[in-house]
Order: sequence, then C-alpha cells, then structure tokens
Amino acid sequence: MDAFLAIVSRREIRDYAERPVPAEVQRRMLEAGRVAGSSRNRQPWRFVATDDRERLDALAETVFEPANLRGCALAIAVALPADARPTASFDAGRAAQNIMLAAWSEGVGSCPNGMTDRERAAAVLELADGLAPMILLSLGYPARPRDPAARPAQEWVERADRLPYDEVVRRL
Ligand SMILES: Cc1cc2nc3c(=O)[nH]c(=O)nc-3n(C[C@H](O)[C@H](O)[C@H](O)COP(=O)(O)O)c2cc1C
Repeated sequence: MDAFLAIVSRREIRDYAERPVPAEVQRRMLEAGRVAGSSRNRQPWRFVATDDRERLDALAETVFEPANLRGCALAIAVALPADARPTASFDAGRAAQNIMLAAWSEGVGSCPNGMTDRERAAAVLELADGLAPMILLSLGYPARPRDPAARPAQEWVERADRLPYDEVVRRL
C-alpha cells in the first residue's frame, strides 16, 4: 500500500474480528517498531507482544476502555525505563506509530490504549524491573473491514475528523 494512503486512511479500531494475526505479520509490525528512529539512536523502548487470551483479558482490566482490549487479537505494549529522559516519550510515539502503520499496510487495525493501572499492566506484561508501560496498542483485523483503495487519498483526508488545515499549519 502507498505510504500516504496508509497514513490518511488509518483510523482507530473500536471493534475487532475474531481472527488471529499471523505470526509473520506480527513479526513485521514489531520490526517496524524496532527500526524506528530515536533521539541519539538510544532506542529506549522495549516491546511486549501477547496474543494470549487470558493475558489480554487481564490487560483489559488495566486500561480506560476494557472492551477494546477484550476484543482484540493481539496487544503490543511499548515500555520505557521508568526514569527515561523526556525525549523518550517522543521516541516511543515514533515506534508506536510505525507499528500501527505497518499493521494497517497489511489490513490489521489498531488503537492506542492509555492505562488506569500501569503497575498492574507491568505485572501482567512481566516487565523487567525499572521498565514502565507507556502505551498499550490493541491490534487485530477490523470487525468492519475498510478498504483504503476504495477512495482516493484526498477523500480520506477530507473525511478525517481533524482540525482544519489552516488552523494547524502556518507557512512563513
Ligand atoms: C477505545 C479507545 C481508547 C483510546 N484510548 C486512547 C488513549 O488512552 N490514549 C491515546 O492517545 N489515544 C487513545 N485513543 C485514540 C484517540 O481517541 C484517537 O486517536 C482519536 O480520537 C482519533 O481517532 P480516529 O483516528 O479514529 O479519527 C483511543 C481510541 C479508542 C477508540
């Protein structure tokens, strides 16, 4: 899929189909996160992926919107050292977006989930001491499939629920 089309057609997925994400697709998403750029190439992130249903249900209890985790096929946590520099949050965002765009390029939807209980999430994820989960991505095939190629990229741009271009962008 064309990169621009993948970017503009991607939306957060609220409901997932009961269909597993193949191991090789999972691997490519995780590689996309791993090769993300970061400040001074520090790569402060660690990723924990799970498609274990019991663990997904346990993770659901740690986020703001449990149903999103309960229905997904896979979760990927992006974790950072608890004492990471402020730049690390930006790095984690770059890695997370890489993962979600690589997923979408293969028809796999996703949604970032913030946590109400990071300590419990860290325990469920068996994170090493000193690591804290930054964001929990739910992933899976969308319950209502959307074909990016069904519309031109510009139409996806216009349909996005976003602030107007002129409010966001200033040219000097
Ligand atoms: C169930 C659910 C939970 C979400 N939780 C978070 C969150 O905790 N943190 C976050 O940055 N975005 C979260 N989002 C994503 C934003 O709400 C989303 O990027 C924004 O509303 C634009 O959505 P769209 O791309 O579908 O238009 C969540 C979305 C959904 C559907």
